[in-house]
Parts: sequence; C-alpha cells; structure tokens
Amino acid sequence: MIEIKNLTKIYTTPTQEILALDDVSLRVEKGEIFGIIGLSGAGKSTLIRCINMLEKPTRGSILVGDREITALDKEDLRTARQKIGMIFQHFNLLSSRTVFENVMFPLEIARVPTNQAQRRVNELLELVGLEDRADSYPAQLSGGQKQRVGIARALANEPLLLLSDEATSALDPQTTRSILELLKDINRQLNLTILLITHDMNVIKEVCDRVAVIDDSRIVEVGDVLDIFANPKIPTTRSFISAVMNREVPEELLYRARTETSPNTTKLIRISFIGASAGEPVISNMVRKFDIDANILYGNVDRVKDTPFGNLTLEMIGEPDLIIQAMEYLHGRGLEIEVLNDV
Ligand SMILES: Nc1ncnc2c1ncn2[C@@H]1O[C@H](COP(=O)(O)OP(=O)(O)OP(=O)(O)O)[C@@H](O)[C@H]1O
Ligand SMILES: [Mg+2]
Repeated sequence: MIEIKNLTKIYTTPTQEILALDDVSLRVEKGEIFGIIGLSGAGKSTLIRCINMLEKPTRGSILVGDREITALDKEDLRTARQKIGMIFQHFNLLSSRTVFENVMFPLEIARVPTNQAQRRVNELLELVGLEDRADSYPAQLSGGQKQRVGIARALANEPLLLLSDEATSALDPQTTRSILELLKDINRQLNLTILLITHDMNVIKEVCDRVAVIDDSRIVEVGDVLDIFANPKIPTTRSFISAVMNREVPEELLYRARTETSPNTTKLIRISFIGASAGEPVISNMVRKFDIDANILYGNVDRVKDTPFGNLTLEMIGEPDLIIQAMEYLHGRGLEIEVLNDV
C-alpha cells in the first residue's frame, strides 16, 4: 500500500541544514494499522507530510497504491491527494462552517454533485456518531466530537489511506480510547489502511498491527506490535514500553527472595505471557502436576490490541528437581521464563 524507499529530507533554513529524515525505508501493507512512534523532533510529522507531498523529499521515492507520489505532476498530485485522508492533533476544522459543511468541504472541492455529496455527508456523520450534531459549529463541540468531524471529513472522498498525525494527543484518556475504537471500526469496516504517528505507546498498544520506532531521523526498529512488546531490541523501544507496562519487580521482593530463601528450594521466576496461554490455567496445572507450592508475588496482565499479554512473578517452593521439571513444563507451554534469584 505504501512503499517508502531511501527517503531523506533535509530542511534548508537561511542559517543551517536540518536532517529530518535519514535514509528511511518502510512498507505498509493494505488494510493494516501501522504506527510510527518517536520522541519530539524525531521526524514523524516530516515523514507523514512527505507521504502526501506537503513536504517534498530531498531524496528517495514513495509509492502509495500503485502511484509513485514523488513523481506526479501538479494535477495528478491533486487527484492522488483526494485518496489520502488526514487527521490532525488540533482537528483543523473551519470555524465558520457547521459540522455538516465541514464534512461537505472536500466533496465540494472534488466537485461531487450536491445531492450525492449531501447523502455522503449524512452517511459519514452516522458512521462517526454525530448525526444529531450536523448543524453545530466546531466551537460548540468537545475535543472528541471535533476529532470525529475531522475523521468524517478525512473519509469524505473514500480514501485508500488515512494518515493521522497525533490525532489523540489533545484528548483525555477516555476520549482517546473512544477515538481509537472508532479508527479500529473504520479500519475493519472499510478495510482502510491507516498510518498513524504518535509519541504515546498506549496508542500503539490499543490499535496498531505493526509499529516502527523512529529515533533521531532514522527508523531503528520495525515489527509486529506483539513481538516488539515481548522482545524490544533497543533501549529507545524499551523505554517507550516501560512507560505503559511495568515489567519491573519491586526491589524489596527481589531483596527478600535473594537474601532470605535458599536458591535450591525456592526459585523466584518471572513468566511472560502472550496470547492464548494467558487464559489457560497453566499455573494451577503445574502446581498439581509437580507437587510444589507457587506464591504469586507480583504481576500484570494487559492487552496489546486484542491479545492478552503480561507477566507474573512467582515464588516456587519445593524439591529442586521438581522445580526444574515445573519450569520445563511452563517453557513447554510456550511461556518465557526468567529466574530472578540466581546469583
Ligand atoms: N519547516 C521546517 N523547517 C526547518 N526545520 C524543520 C521544519 N519542520 C521540521 N523541522 C525540523 O525537523 C526535525 C523533525 O521535525 P518533525 O516535526 O518531523 O518532528 P516530530 O517527530 O513530528 O516532532 P513532534 O513530536 O514534536 O511533533 C526537527 O528538528 C524540526 O525542528
Ligand atoms: Mg510532529
């Protein structure tokens, strides 16, 4: 759906050159929700603005669908852009137009006949749950409602691709969740490809299929969101994940386990769960099968998109042989195990 090859963007100002994107290559498949996460200034907005050619790349090429967007003339670019919807952090609505007229605007520009356009606007307002606010002005809406208008407007010309630049950053957590749910619904219902950029790992965790981490103008890690959460390779990614999911066992638990118990008869282990096994009674099966005791000391279970995901710290007490067999059993169930009190 999108293929970015060796994209470099250098901004030239009167006093300096700023390298905003450095040799970025990336593929986004049709129908997926792809997230790009990075700190402020990493180059996220530059990347998204190059995809719809609001910024002209310095080097490299970008394919959207089957069109090389970087090689189009002005007229072709105008029609190509109609198939790329965009939503923004600050909504960018026209304050003197009603909700209805805001959503109508791109259809007017595309010269869609009035009857057809009005029908389309009504459908869109229903899709985003604002059919009863058609005559309101943006100033009369909450942030979440404004973003719903932004989404309806972005979908007006039936885009192939929806770009989102920090679309939930100005919203509270609950409203953020409802907007993300709406994006997920739209993705499913319309099989619409969504590329979103954010600095918030929660957004990635709630909706994205795949994610790329951008750090200092470069893509430093790409993968399925679950794989990245389970096994982040670089420190930048780890710090984004630890902001939303605490994997650290409290220090005093570790201290007690290491000093007050014998490492032969007591093992402190951390089990990481991904997917279905989080729903199975693996721990109680293990306790029954191997005749050991297991104390749950600490843990958290969360969801990444729709998959259960988490970790559990257990104190396992019993015969050393049995403890080892029990750990092998857990490992055999596809769980990842770390021993925390081996010194
Ligand atoms: N029009 C411009 N002219 C010059 N430099 C720019 C311009 N736009 C962005 N930059 C610079 O390019 C770099 C990347 O900026 P960009 O806006 O892409 O970052 P970002 O990841 O979107 O950050 P944020 O999370 O704060 O929105 C920054 O160093 C920024 O100062
Ligand atoms: Mg930005």
